[in-house]
Amino acid sequence: MDDSHKLLIDIAAASDLSVLEQYRVSALGKSGSITALLKALGSMDPATRSTEGPKVHALREAVGAALASRKEALETADLDRKLATETLDLTLPEPDQPAGSVHPISQVMDELAEIFADLGFAVAEGPEIESQWYNFSALNMPENHPARAMQDTFYLERQEGEDEAKVLRTHTSPVQIRTMESNPPPLRIIAPGRVYRSDSDATHTPMFHQIEGLVIDRAIHMGHLKWTLETFLKAFFERDDIAIRMRPSYFPFTEPSAEVDVGWSVERGRRVVGGQEGWMEVLGSGMVHPRVIANCGLDPAEWQGFAFGTGVDRLAMLKYGMDDLRAFFDADLRWLKHYGFRFLDVPTLSGGVGA
Ligand code: DAH
Repeated sequence: MDDSHKLLIDIAAASDLSVLEQYRVSALGKSGSITALLKALGSMDPATRSTEGPKVHALREAVGAALASRKEALETADLDRKLATETLDLTLPEPDQPAGSVHPISQVMDELAEIFADLGFAVAEGPEIESQWYNFSALNMPENHPARAMQDTFYLERQEGEDEAKVLRTHTSPVQIRTMESNPPPLRIIAPGRVYRSDSDATHTPMFHQIEGLVIDRAIHMGHLKWTLETFLKAFFERDDIAIRMRPSYFPFTEPSAEVDVGWSVERGRRVVGGQEGWMEVLGSGMVHPRVIANCGLDPAEWQGFAFGTGVDRLAMLKYGMDDLRAFFDADLRWLKHYGFRFLDVPTLSGGVGA
């Protein structure tokens, strides 16, 4: 057993983990020396096996133990070396690296989701490339309906196999239809997202953001709509003196329809939301048109609801005091640094959603 004695000495002196692994394979691997001895036991006569067996097994144990203890020693030495050479001073100030910021639109979307989640609304989504059925027809805007011309729609080229060209959705209202189709009522959702219209000036960009709200239940009326919008606007602008005014209006997908104005006042020379010195329009809303409810396969005699829609970019501008919408999409680092939010500024109702 001289060889095995030498093996034990080699293992104890192995200089690193890869050398140690070679010794393990040469002894205990598939074609290792000890593996061969173990195999040989099978072909011995019982008398020889009873004397040789314990020796071979003892050797295997000894080699296994030597490997384990050398491995631990090498690993400990390795760790000690790292601890001695690598340092991290946790008391040093945070390195001054360029930090990204959360875009005001993302921040406002998070604020809206937080406010509406507290009122029991889930967040729903739909595609930005939408069929004309969802974007228009199901919302009670059949072909040739004048409302289709009101929105400067981007049409895609009609693809083979398509009856109709798709459009870039012009509003988030199609998510109402998709939600009603795939979820049984009662429903309470908001649908924030990108929308597209061929329009561009200081207050319009071809891509902008809307948020849609939809509630479907039994015995829903406009009082529910008014309370919901008031509660939402108070939470969003973080003021209790929010006044709203509902003006009769027309949207094809609601009946009756109302445009919602919010009161503003002048503070330190700036127009801010709150008070009642003047009014500005912030939302479109109404009771979901019975035809829209029927288009989604629900019985309008049983299910009613309200819906509303508004521009997220506009809400952000009003709340955080920016005046040119185009700056939102310029990716100007100075603007982002000034108006952006730190990623730890997660909106919560208890902390004030705009904290
Ligand atoms: N979809 C409308 C738009 O883009 C906004 C809107 C108005 C949405 C009234 C609604 C609503 O849900 O009830 O101009």
